[in-house]
Amino acid sequence: MRKLLIAGNWKMFKTFDEAIDLAKNIEKFVRNESVVDVAVFPPATYIHVVSSLLKNRSIFVGAQNIYPEEEGAFTGEISAKMVLTSGGSMTILGHSERRNVFGEPNDFICKKVKKAMATGLIPVLCIGEKLEEREAGETESVLIGQLEGSLDGVKIDSPDEIVLAYEPVWAIGTGVNATPEQAQATQAFIREWFRGRYGPMADKIRILYGGSVKPSNAEKLLSQADIDGALIGGASLSSESFCEIIAIAKRISIEGKCQ
Ligand code: 13P
Repeated sequence: MRKLLIAGNWKMFKTFDEAIDLAKNIEKFVRNESVVDVAVFPPATYIHVVSSLLKNRSIFVGAQNIYPEEEGAFTGEISAKMVLTSGGSMTILGHSERRNVFGEPNDFICKKVKKAMATGLIPVLCIGEKLEEREAGETESVLIGQLEGSLDGVKIDSPDEIVLAYEPVWAIGTGVNATPEQAQATQAFIREWFRGRYGPMADKIRILYGGSVKPSNAEKLLSQADIDGALIGGASLSSESFCEIIAIAKRISIEGKCQ
């Protein structure tokens, strides 16, 4: 079984003080955790302080996005090196809000994936279909397009270098999660695509599910064979619900996935 990764995407929420409180509460809960990996993605302005609070614990801290250039006159953007030297070790890329609100295309996301990896950040590459695409039976072709476009020419030497996250757009922030069966079938499909491109490493790559994950549905989702963790928005903003999901993941890791 792949080590489960429970990741919190804080999006554009929390004041500075609130972010510190949240990080401290997670740290208390996750201290010395080794069964499950945990990651938090605070707003970029808090990466440094949050990573200082979580230093020496088994918690990854990352950015929600980067710009693919090394440095330069790109007002308002942050580079992979800035994230790394502020204490970050991961970055979300290709989140549906970046794709749909900010119009980021696959080739731009692909440049970011390459830059992140070349800098030593682990990308959490997000893909997912919209409701009308699922209803039109286009889920697989949409995902193939996103995977091919975002990973075009991307060399992966080890399964630890990248994480994939399947986030159906219709499940994000709606309270309506994909059913465990829907998520499992789609993630098994993603793993097979990955196997075709990258070979047996596909068995070791982590594929997270994201979209309305909460304590009440985490157990069933995380028990699926091809769901290796969760990328959590709303429920990661309270330490109680986030830590409850970590506890569920820990229990599944110890007891094994029995379906
Ligand atoms: P919600 O958990 O709020 O649906 O958000 C999911 C998400 O977009 C995580 O990146």
